[in-house]
Amino acid sequence: VPRADVVIVANRLPVDRVVEADGSTSWRRSPGGLVSALAPVMTAQEGAWIGWPGDVSADEEDLEPFQHEGMTLVPVSISALEYEEYYEGFSNATLWPLYHDVVAKPEFHREWWDSYIDVNQRFAGAAADIAAEGAVVWIQDYQLQLVPALLRDLRPDLRIGFFLHIPFPPAELFSQLPWRRQLLEGLLGADLVGFQLSGAAQNFIRLVRQRVGHKTHRDSVYLPDGRIVTAKAFPISIDVDKFEELAQSESVQKRAAQIRDDLGNPRRIFLGIDRLDYTKGIYARLRAFSELIHDGHFTVEDATFVQVASPSRERVDQYRILRDDIDRLVGHINGDLGRLGRPAISYLNASFPQEEMAALYVASDIMVVTPFRDGMNLVAKEFVACRMEEDGALVLSEFAGAAEELRQAYLVNPYDINGMKAQMLEAFEADEKELTRRMKAMRKTVAENDVDNWASNFLADLSAVRPGHAKQV
Ligand code: G6P
Repeated sequence: VPRADVVIVANRLPVDRVVEADGSTSWRRSPGGLVSALAPVMTAQEGAWIGWPGDVSADEEDLEPFQHEGMTLVPVSISALEYEEYYEGFSNATLWPLYHDVVAKPEFHREWWDSYIDVNQRFAGAAADIAAEGAVVWIQDYQLQLVPALLRDLRPDLRIGFFLHIPFPPAELFSQLPWRRQLLEGLLGADLVGFQLSGAAQNFIRLVRQRVGHKTHRDSVYLPDGRIVTAKAFPISIDVDKFEELAQSESVQKRAAQIRDDLGNPRRIFLGIDRLDYTKGIYARLRAFSELIHDGHFTVEDATFVQVASPSRERVDQYRILRDDIDRLVGHINGDLGRLGRPAISYLNASFPQEEMAALYVASDIMVVTPFRDGMNLVAKEFVACRMEEDGALVLSEFAGAAEELRQAYLVNPYDINGMKAQMLEAFEADEKELTRRMKAMRKTVAENDVDNWASNFLADLSAVRPGHAKQV
């Protein structure tokens, strides 16, 4: 396998290995915002992407590097036990809830931490093997926070970047972690540590000062060996051209019209699209919608809610509980408020290809994105990119990173059901002029910072670093 000048290291490969009914295997696009953002960037770079193929049963031969859309994909294996301890455990039952403002209670287990170290070590080894002399290695997200320092030990010649796709919590919350210092030191192995928002970068700098004791000034950390680490915000985005192209395509237009027909052509279609995750505020938003019908603001003939929830981390307790809660709530709402052939909520527990998502964005009128905490939320930006007619409304949580950019959304506090109802109703009743004013401004913002800008800004800052030494920006 040839060595690469640009290497991405992420928990998942951009494609998941799936075993078909006849035993053959195929590859399917992986879930989540990280892959949607990075895949288009990397295809252009001819780099290598190191990650887990999304399947614990992969044989040795499935784990050979292979070519895919111009990239070399390097699969890293994870055992069934590591899947439980590193992935479901430390990554998704410790770090995920902790970093999302303890929306659910994080669990701390020493075996999970040990497994996290082992798997991070394996990813660092794979990166050290494939990176060319002086290469740029870009490590992604909370599953791999120890990789920067582990990799620097193996390969001091590399330029190492790290980007956190999820929020980075305030010091008061992060400090609960028994391994807080080790995680901070892991990240400090990078030359450049990127976050979605500047507040997150500030949280990190403050923690490094408090808990590791390094000198800091503004966005820089000064290490005793003379190295300087920069921590700053790079708000992630989407492939705007791709979504605009999709939204205008004949097949998506046709499919959008069909969706409206299937739903009985109501005056307004509300839409939610999320991974089925307790951070996303799905329960609260569906309650708010149902209360608007119950209170008589509109009927199920006037408005309907389409909620797509893609299955995610299904064996983790909190996700199972959430799935049951939502199943029950949707059943309850439809039983109470629906009429024959007119459910209040169309609930789909499934994931769909991008074309179908684009058709849903085009078909709907009011997109509702109400996370309790979210790093960015790319679905909000995708919706905006697909509204070529400059119409439609976005109801958006203040606690999504996207709210820092999309100021013309109907902003809501997802903990405040009455406030959410009021904003959803205002979006429902808004006249076309008002909707256009808001959407126009949001489309401008999204167009100005697409995912290519995001990646090239990050990589430009990282390239300005002299390998193993202080940055020269
Ligand atoms: C979020 C995370 C990603 C993750 C994705 C899907 O977007 O930031 O790192 O890949 O969710 O979650 P999963 O656990 O299925 O990889």
